[in-house]
Amino acid sequence: MAYPEIPGAQHAAPPNVPTKEFFDTKGLDYETTYGHNAGLLKAIDKLTALLRPGCRVLDLGCGTGRPVAHTLAARGFRVHGVDFSETMVELSRSAAPSGVFEQAHYLEWAPFPPIAAEESQDPKQQKFGGIVVSSSFYELSREQMETLVSRWRDWLEPGGFVLLVMVGAEDVPATKPDMYDADGRFARGIPFRFMGDDCFLYLFTRAGWRALLEEKGGLSVREQWTEAFVPPSEADCDGEVNSFLIAESAK
Ligand SMILES: C[S@@+](CC[C@H](N)C(=O)[O-])C[C@H]1O[C@@H](n2cnc3c(N)ncnc32)[C@H](O)[C@@H]1O
Repeated sequence: MAYPEIPGAQHAAPPNVPTKEFFDTKGLDYETTYGHNAGLLKAIDKLTALLRPGCRVLDLGCGTGRPVAHTLAARGFRVHGVDFSETMVELSRSAAPSGVFEQAHYLEWAPFPPIAAEESQDPKQQKFGGIVVSSSFYELSREQMETLVSRWRDWLEPGGFVLLVMVGAEDVPATKPDMYDADGRFARGIPFRFMGDDCFLYLFTRAGWRALLEEKGGLSVREQWTEAFVPPSEADCDGEVNSFLIAESAK
């Protein structure tokens, strides 16, 4: 299914979010800082216990491929990673050689060839049993996140699972009341230190992430929890309270 291009998809994200070029230069430094996040490892265990054995799993913003793609592949899942950084795509290919990895902007990517019947013999034409988004929506505006999540209705098989790992706006100390949208579910331009860079975050609240999955994705949230992550001091990053959500599509 071809989706109409979103005007300005490469540039519509607000200023001072980490760019493709930023991630191209970070590569393995990102993995050194974030690759051992105990909360994320636990969430991967929870997800893999739920997924249909051997199903396809889409990893949006796959980064270096560790820990997510590597662990999923090692447990027999067919990983399909998408990332706009060629450095990250190359690292993912090494981390999970059995996976398929593509360099693309999320909003310009669709699971081609068109998804056909679930029982199709062509693995490329089967829907995804799982979708993982781990800390990789930071570069999108609210409207772009909503567009992307609404597309998952076509991409997930019935009874498939989503793992979303983000940060709730209310869990960042620098979030101020005037940063919130009128509905109180989203805050814009939150200052944050990320790998030596001063950037700005655009985040849903914990309730907002939940509503995003339920209202735009048509999913039922099965579990939501938070866990603090403290990066090593030499990484020059602010600490995070990660918000984890596991959601399920209708059977
Ligand atoms: C913070 S890293 C997280 C990597 C990985 N998911 C993890 O948890 O280790 C975000 C990743 O998303 C990718 N990314 C960010 N915005 C993207 C976009 N619009 N399209 C594709 N990839 C994107 C970046 O290149 C980067 O590798």
